[in-house]
Amino acid sequence: MRRKIVVANRKMNGDMPSNQAFLEGLVSATLSHQRADYVVCMPHPYLFQAQAILKNTHVHWGGQNMSRYQSGAHTGSVSPPMLKEFGCEYVIIGHSERRLHGHDTDTSTGERFEVAIQSGLIPIFCMGETLEEYEDGATDIVTIRQLNAVITEIGVQGLSGGVLAYEPVWAIGTGKAATPGHAQNVLSFLRGHIEMLDAELAKNIRILYGGSVNSANAEQLFAMPDIDGALVGGASLNTEEFVGICLAADRASATNQNRLVSFP
Ligand code: 13P
Repeated sequence: MRRKIVVANRKMNGDMPSNQAFLEGLVSATLSHQRADYVVCMPHPYLFQAQAILKNTHVHWGGQNMSRYQSGAHTGSVSPPMLKEFGCEYVIIGHSERRLHGHDTDTSTGERFEVAIQSGLIPIFCMGETLEEYEDGATDIVTIRQLNAVITEIGVQGLSGGVLAYEPVWAIGTGKAATPGHAQNVLSFLRGHIEMLDAELAKNIRILYGGSVNSANAEQLFAMPDIDGALVGGASLNTEEFVGICLAADRASATNQNRLVSFP
């Protein structure tokens, strides 16, 4: 059974006092980490703070992006060893906010997915269509193109070291989350594509939904069979909201476990 995973993408938000309140609140919230994973992706200057507060707790942390280079003349970039030095286990790759502003391409995201794995980091790989592409019915074409860029680089087996996330651009920060049905259809389509290449991997790889997830809609999303968790932006700026989403993941995992017990 796939473990649920809830990832906070705090984007370019926060300061030392508000980060501290959020991170300490998350640690002390009564989350059962037996059944789900919780991850906080911080702006890079605050990884030091995340490490200090989250070390030896059940909450994991990560970066929001990384260079494909290990070091050198790359002003403004952050290398995989730097993320590792601050205890990161995860790194977001290919978020639409970076793709849309021209920083990330299909090729560069594929390359950095591979570098992340080689560096001992777990890439959280984002895919998703714009509103225009959605209205043109191009969701499948766009997400498969983005996914295939990684598969071309690293081979289908290489996906196993990462986590995938479907984040439709039109749902990000708009308050208009995809319906659970739409998200399920896209995730099932992506899993089906992987299944054609490697059935075992398709069963095990975790695929998240992201885009206006909050504590009110998380439960319904997590009830979908292919949705293994959420990538959370705005709602991760509020401890109570984010904890609410984590608790929904925990409950959904508990329900799945009960199902397995009832129907072996
Ligand atoms: P929101 O949850 O604010 O819509 O952002 C989603 C996102 O971009 C997470 O990576």
